Amino acid sequence: MRASVNFVHTEKGMVIKMKIKFKDQFSLGVASAATQIEGGELDHNWNDWYAKGKIKDNSNPARATDHYRLWKEDADLMAEMKINHYRLGIEWARICPDEGKVDEAVIAHYREEISYLKNKGISVLLTIHHFTNPMWFENKGAFTKIENLKYFLDFVELVVKSFGDIVSEYITINEPNVYATNSYYFGEWPPGDKSIFKAIAVMSNMTSCHIKAYNMIHRIRGEMGFRDTKVSFANHVRVFDPKNPRNLWHRICSYLLDRAFQGAVTEAMTTGNFTWPLKKAKDISKGEYIDFIAINYYTRTTASGFADGTKEDAAKNDLGWEIYPEGLIRCADKLYKILQRPIYITENGTCDNQDGFRSKYIYEHLKLIAESKLPINRFYHWCFCDNFEWVEGESSRFGLVYINYETQERTIKDAGAFYTGMIEEHGVTEELYKEYVEGQQFHY
Ligand code: BGC
Repeated sequence: MRASVNFVHTEKGMVIKMKIKFKDQFSLGVASAATQIEGGELDHNWNDWYAKGKIKDNSNPARATDHYRLWKEDADLMAEMKINHYRLGIEWARICPDEGKVDEAVIAHYREEISYLKNKGISVLLTIHHFTNPMWFENKGAFTKIENLKYFLDFVELVVKSFGDIVSEYITINEPNVYATNSYYFGEWPPGDKSIFKAIAVMSNMTSCHIKAYNMIHRIRGEMGFRDTKVSFANHVRVFDPKNPRNLWHRICSYLLDRAFQGAVTEAMTTGNFTWPLKKAKDISKGEYIDFIAINYYTRTTASGFADGTKEDAAKNDLGWEIYPEGLIRCADKLYKILQRPIYITENGTCDNQDGFRSKYIYEHLKLIAESKLPINRFYHWCFCDNFEWVEGESSRFGLVYINYETQERTIKDAGAFYTGMIEEHGVTEELYKEYVEGQQFHY
C-alpha cells in the first residue's frame, strides 16, 4: 500500500501535504449527453416517451438545460472551472430530422461549439449514440432489426465526414447493455418492450454497429490524413456480488447476471467474439475494436436472485444505488485483462440532490484511481451540470453545476469548486480535503 499522504515540493521551496496526488498522465474532465442537456421539440423517442406520460416527475426533455441555446455560456463556465476534457454528444434526431434528410445548419452549430471548446483548451470526446433515436428510426424497430443497422452506420459516416477534421476521439455507442435492458427487457424506457429476445438482439446488433463504426471511423479519418484516431464504446459496468458468498444459488445468480448484462457484450464489442447469450453476426471477424477502455461506473448489484439487489447496510445515493468505490477498480481490472489499452473513466458521479456527499464520493473514487497501478488516464465526471435524468426527469441531480430549470441559471456547486481545486493542484491537498470532503457523510 502507498502512503495516503504525499508531499509535493513547490517551485518556491514550500512543502505541500497531499491527500491524493494524481499521476502525471492523469487528467479530469466532465461528461454529458445531448438529450439530457440540449432541450428542443425534436421528433425523438424521449420526447415521445414524455408525451406518453412516462417520465416519473413529468419533466419535459424538450426543456432540459437549454444547452443548445446556451452552449457558449456553458463552454465559458467549463473553461472558468479549468476543465480540460469534455465528453459530449450530438443529437441524431436534430441532425437527421427525417429519413434521408440532413440539417446542415445543425452540423454548422455543432462545429462551432466544438471549435470554441478546443480554442478554450478543452479536448472533445464525441459520443455518437446515447440512448436517443429519431422517431423515423424508432418506428422501423431501431436496433432490434439487422436491416436497420445501415441507418445508424450512414449516420456514423455523416458524423465522421462532418467532424473528422476537428474531432479525433469518438464513443460510438453509450452503454448498449443499459439501453437494451431498460428499453426492451424491463420496458421502462422507450419503446417499453418486455422481451428478453429483443434485448439480446439489440445487444448483438449494437455490437455489430460498434465494430463496423470502429472500422469506418478509422478508415475515413485515415483517408483524411489523420493518424491520431481513437474509438471506443462507453461500457456501463458494475460489480455483481453474491448476497451470501457461501450460498451456491447466490453465486450462480451473480455469475449469470454478470454474463448476461455485461460479460458477453463487453467481450463481443472489444474482440468480436460473440458468446452466450449473444447472437453471432456473420459479417464480423475477431479483432481488437477499442483504442481505449471506456468505463461508466456507478454501483454494485448484490445478487440473491435474477434481480438488481442492493446491499442492505451499504452507503447509498439518493436513488438508492450502493456507493462502492472499490468496484471501479475491480471492473477496470477485469476489462484490462481482456484487452490492454489506456483506461478512461467516461462516467462516474452520483445522484445527490443536496450536494451533501458528492465531494466525498468523488474523492473516494479518485483516491483509489491514484493508488491503482492500472493506466487510468482520464476521469470524466458525470455530469457537468444537473440534467434530464431519463425516466427520473429533472428531480435527480448529478451535476457539478446546479441548474435552476425555471430560469436556466447556472451556479457552481461546492463539488464543482472542489473539482476545480483538484485540477489546479493535480490532486487533493490537505486544505481542499478539509474544506470540501471532511465534513461530508454518506447516507445508509
Ligand atoms: C448514462 C447517463 C445517466 C447516468 C446516471 C449512465 O448510465 O450514460 O446518461 O444519466 O448513467 O444515471
